[in-house]
Amino acid sequence: MTKYIIKGGKPLHGEIEISGAKNAAVAIIPAALMVSGTCRIENIPQISDVTMLLNIIEMMGGDIRTVDRHTMDIDCAGVKSVPADFELMHKIRASYYLIGALLGRFGRAEVAMPGGCNFGGVRPIDQHIKGFIAMGADVSVRNGMVVAQAKGGRLRGASIYLDVVSVGATINLMLAASLAQGVTYIENAAKEPHIVDLANFLNSMGADIRGAGTNVIKIRGVNELRGGFYSTIPDQIEAGTYLAAVAGAGGEVLIKNVIPKHLNCITVKLEEMGVSVKKFGDSVLVSSDGKLRATNFKTMPYPGFPTDMQPQLATILCLAKGTSTVTEGVWDNRYKYTDELLKMGANIRVEGRTAVIDGVSEFTGAHIKACDLRAGAAMVIAGLCANGTTEVTGVNYIERGYEDIVGKLRAVGADIISVQCADDENEVRDIV
Ligand code: EPU
Repeated sequence: MTKYIIKGGKPLHGEIEISGAKNAAVAIIPAALMVSGTCRIENIPQISDVTMLLNIIEMMGGDIRTVDRHTMDIDCAGVKSVPADFELMHKIRASYYLIGALLGRFGRAEVAMPGGCNFGGVRPIDQHIKGFIAMGADVSVRNGMVVAQAKGGRLRGASIYLDVVSVGATINLMLAASLAQGVTYIENAAKEPHIVDLANFLNSMGADIRGAGTNVIKIRGVNELRGGFYSTIPDQIEAGTYLAAVAGAGGEVLIKNVIPKHLNCITVKLEEMGVSVKKFGDSVLVSSDGKLRATNFKTMPYPGFPTDMQPQLATILCLAKGTSTVTEGVWDNRYKYTDELLKMGANIRVEGRTAVIDGVSEFTGAHIKACDLRAGAAMVIAGLCANGTTEVTGVNYIERGYEDIVGKLRAVGADIISVQCADDENEVRDIV
């Protein structure tokens, strides 16, 4: 077990290279299960969620070879549609993409129900199940497993209207429909960059998907996907997290390997707060004197402000001059972390889906914990901005989705170290 110790109050200067997108990689890796032949995938982030997913695929018979730190060859010719390790699958949310991938390839899937509840609310998958049923599958949940079987052995194309804009359901149904018989329409689809990235991956392997990135996606099922090369997009949320860190701690950092257009929803808010953001071809330069102005924002599906940046932005707004309001429009409850910020002197109160923040002049170092992945990143940012020393426990959450966060921050002058700690300092908590 490890924890981070941060001596705050140091402005950040230098360059940070962004890794491949977690939420693209955790969709593309299961998609490789559907391919006959080897997929070479570049720009895979080195994070524990990816490692767990690769372990699951190996246990199912996949052959995974590491080409270099961020490149893998994945050959799933030997995969059988057998239930994979329950405990491992239950640990990561993205294991639910195995349902769509296995149903598409074998007409049958048995996958552990994804864990959830880390935001304090329910994380249902009813829209995924509704779509599989529309495509001709029988779906039941037994002993914690989702068991899905396509009638006649192969899914059929269908028109599916999602009742809520769901990233996971859009991805899962795109996977399943790629090898179904006939045409599938997903209406009210999510439009996140990683949805477009998955469609690009599948199309480069021979799928026929149009409209990804709009709210209607048309998928003409094909009989086979073949191997090829692909490089995942950079992580929009990792980049946003470092932008927020520099905005709060002050300094000037060039954030490299990004698609600036994917960051617009974040950078417009930072600019309203008085932060300078200059965009180049594949990098952005962020400069801040650490003196921020209050603003308001509401999280929404892309291209709205991303819920996965809500804790990081709310954290720096605690240090902005004036009163800000934050409204969570995607999840029922994503404010558990605010109790930790109170320990550092923040003035933040949560009323239902809204947090009202009265800016304070400083944070003081404290012992705080990461209660989920993005909240954990927000705790690191709080520590970087604070006077004194902050200890962050529960960092296993952070390492599920951020590659070498300590190394990247140290390279721009942050005083942050990762140290061993006793197990009881890191309570066991639930799933990201
Ligand atoms: N929803 C339903 N029914 C469903 C699916 C979703 O009611 O069948 C609701 C959810 O309860 C939520 C909303 O729809 O209120 C959106 O959920 P969505 O399905 O879009 O979320 P997800 O696919 O489970 C992904 C990301 C999350 C990110 C959300 C929203 C992955 C592995 N996870 O989750 O990322 O918050 O989309 O953008 O891609 C993170 O990276 O930290 C993270 C939590």
